[in-house]
Amino acid sequence: MSSICIYGNPALRKTAECVGSVTNEVRALVDRMLKIMYTADGIGLAAGQVGETCAVFVLDVPAEADKNDDGFPSNPSVTMPLVFINPEVIGASDEVDTKEEGCLSFPKLYVSVTRSKEVVVRFQDRNGNAQMLNAKGLLARAIQHEMDHLNGLLLFDHMSKATKMKHALLFRKFKKANK
Ligand code: NI
Repeated sequence: MSSICIYGNPALRKTAECVGSVTNEVRALVDRMLKIMYTADGIGLAAGQVGETCAVFVLDVPAEADKNDDGFPSNPSVTMPLVFINPEVIGASDEVDTKEEGCLSFPKLYVSVTRSKEVVVRFQDRNGNAQMLNAKGLLARAIQHEMDHLNGLLLFDHMSKATKMKHALLFRKFKKANK
């Protein structure tokens, strides 16, 4: 059985709460989330997706999938995986692009989402140290996707009416899976 909450699970709609201090308990959750993410072959996972309400997400964006138009890595100095605790986006470019996104809570569904091309995010790492990251490309997109999760927002909220209608059957299936 999957330990990832699927669309329809109320845990996905909760707003995440700030982590007071980065304890061993928080680190254990982080490790569990990374394990679940890798098992599911995902590149990102937010705490809400495993039924936790704290402001934590993890990312492992493969460098080969994150290149700019010239073929160079978008984020050459970033080491994966990344652990974001109490993240806050403090800057976002006006320049946007639209690309398809998936989500482990919406199996087999890909949706076009418009996001800022670059973001600056402030957060605490696995050791509770303050960090600041300037992210571009797929990493910037993934950060914005996971920030949505912390705010109880989902891919569903980025779908057009037509897309929602197109996948009505799938949503019904998700609903059933939560019963
Ligand atoms: Ni997601």
